[in-house]
Amino acid sequence: MASKLFVLLFTIISCHQLRTIRAESVVKINAENEATSIDDKKAINDFQDRCSSRKCREDETCVLNQDGDVECACIAECEDPKDERLMICTAANHTYTSDCEFYQMQCWCRKNDQRCTRKEALTDTIDYFGQCQNLGVCTEFELEVFPKRMTTWLGEILDALFVRKGLDSKYETLVNEARKMKLSNTEKWWRNAVLWEFCELDRTHDNSVNKEELSRFVRSLKVLEHCIQPFLNHCDTNNDNKISADEWGSCLGLDKDDVDFLKTFCSH
Ligand SMILES: *[C@@H]1O[C@H](CO)[C@@H](O)[C@H](O)[C@H]1NC(C)=O
Repeated sequence: MASKLFVLLFTIISCHQLRTIRAESVVKINAENEATSIDDKKAINDFQDRCSSRKCREDETCVLNQDGDVECACIAECEDPKDERLMICTAANHTYTSDCEFYQMQCWCRKNDQRCTRKEALTDTIDYFGQCQNLGVCTEFELEVFPKRMTTWLGEILDALFVRKGLDSKYETLVNEARKMKLSNTEKWWRNAVLWEFCELDRTHDNSVNKEELSRFVRSLKVLEHCIQPFLNHCDTNNDNKISADEWGSCLGLDKDDVDFLKTFCSH
């Protein structure tokens, strides 16, 4: 368990760093542009203006084509993450080196580019982070003990994030209280971590975690926790593909008061 936790934290942190590196390289390109002549600068400004009005899909970038027009193109090159944990396995059970590579393939196929070597990519989706593997079935017993496993584990994550000072300030009171509960061996010491995770997952602040929010969560956890999807299915008692605050509370063992607090705390 401890080592799995470490792996998960590493995954979260390395994904974060990767994004930072990408952002830095964009800044660097811009800085290089600064050094160019005034004419070039004008051209670049013009290019940027035209690109800002040209809305490209998330997996495409705005480029200048041979005729001097701006157009949306597929990501030219994906960084090789050189880390198995950033590989992705798709629903069709195909491994890509990174999510970038998957989106690039989808883009090529959409545009009938000759580099499209897997037409299936068009209808494929990301299943989880990590190389495709046999994840095994979640047994009834594993599912039964899963809430305990998950609450303990969320509690440890919140604690680790607290130590690393990696948390949004809005959680300050929640975290300080969680620390005290943990140190005093309170029975549900993980309570605040369960509250925190729901708020983190519910990005739209509508007091429920929708399908998209859930799949993002499942993707990064599935390799470590093959019971995560069956567990979440089990939490969704009304089968609407969303997990409400009430459903989250009852499947993770929160008291009614905590669920009421959750509803007001997360909805802004
Ligand atoms: C997916 O591929 C992996 C590795 O090739 C294999 O071990 C696993 O059994 C496959 N899973 C399914 C559901 O086919």
